[in-house]
Amino acid sequence: MNSLQALKNGSNLLREKNISTHIIDSELLLSKILNKTREEMLINLNEKIDEKNKFIFKKYLSRRSKKEPIAYILEEKEFWSKKFFVNKDTLIPRPETELLVDKLLKIYSGKKLSILDIGTGCGCILVSLLSNLNQSKGYGIDRSKKATFVAKMNVKKHKLSDCTKILNVSFENFFNKKFDLIVSNPPYIEKRKIKNLSDDIKKFEPRMALDGGNDGLDLIKKIIYKSKHILKVNGLLALEIGNEQVKKVSKKLKENNFRIKDYLKDYKDNIRCVIAIKNK
Ligand SMILES: C[S@@+](CC[C@H](N)C(=O)[O-])C[C@H]1O[C@@H](n2cnc3c(N)ncnc32)[C@H](O)[C@@H]1O
Repeated sequence: MNSLQALKNGSNLLREKNISTHIIDSELLLSKILNKTREEMLINLNEKIDEKNKFIFKKYLSRRSKKEPIAYILEEKEFWSKKFFVNKDTLIPRPETELLVDKLLKIYSGKKLSILDIGTGCGCILVSLLSNLNQSKGYGIDRSKKATFVAKMNVKKHKLSDCTKILNVSFENFFNKKFDLIVSNPPYIEKRKIKNLSDDIKKFEPRMALDGGNDGLDLIKKIIYKSKHILKVNGLLALEIGNEQVKKVSKKLKENNFRIKDYLKDYKDNIRCVIAIKNK
C-alpha cells in the first residue's frame, strides 16, 4: 500500500464516522507517522507504507473515529507559531487565547516584567510570553498535577527553565510577591452546559479545565479577588472569558478596584478577553 491509498482509506473511514475534517485528519495522522510534513508527504504519494506504519495508522484512525481530538493523538498543538506537547491532562490551546497573547506582547514589547499565569495547562500562554519578553520571569500554576508535568516539559522544550517556575498549586493557596501581569484562561463553562459541548471536548478534555461552576464565573470571580492582592498598582489582569460573560466580569473588576483597559474580540466578533488595570 502507498501513501495515496492509505490516505484514501483513512479519509473514507473517518467520513463514515461523520468526521467533517476527514481528509485533513487522515493527512495529518499519516504525515506524523511518516515523520514528514504534510506537504512533504503530499508530493510523494507513491511512498510505500510498511506494515508497522500501517498498524499505527489504523490505531490512530480508530482513536479519531471515536472523536478523540487530533492534537491528543499527535500529542502536539501549534500555538503562537510554537509547537507544544499536549495530552489528555491539558486543554488543547485555542486560537482566541492567541489573541490575548498577541495583545499582551504588543503592550509589553521591550519591557521586563514578572508574570503569573493562573491555570497554565500546557504552559502555552506563559511560554509564548516569556519567549518574546527577554529578561522577564514568570510563574505558571495549575491545580492539576498532571498538567504541570506537561507545562514543565514545554518550558524545557522551549529553553525557558531559567526564567520560569511551574507549580502544582491552586491559585487560592498561592502567596507570592507582587506581579506586573496576571494572565489567566480559567475554566469558564457553566456546569449545566458542559453536556452540550461537542464530543471531542466533553469526552476528552479535562473537566477541571472546563467547569466554571454554576454560572461559569466561579473561578473568574475568585481570580479577580486574588489578583487584587498580588498585582502591583497599575499592573494588568488579562482574562479570557466565555461568550456573554463580559458584563458580569467587567462589573466584578470595577467592584474590585480595577479599571478596564481593553476588550478583545474573537473571529466571530464576540468579546472573549478583558484586560484590566489595578487602581491605586
Ligand atoms: C481553560 S484551561 C487553560 C489552560 C491553558 N492556560 C490554555 O490557555 O490553554 C484552565 C486550567 O486551569 C486549571 N485550574 C482549574 N482550577 C484551578 C485552580 N483553582 N487553580 C489553578 N489552576 C486551576 C485547570 O487544571 C486547567 O489547566
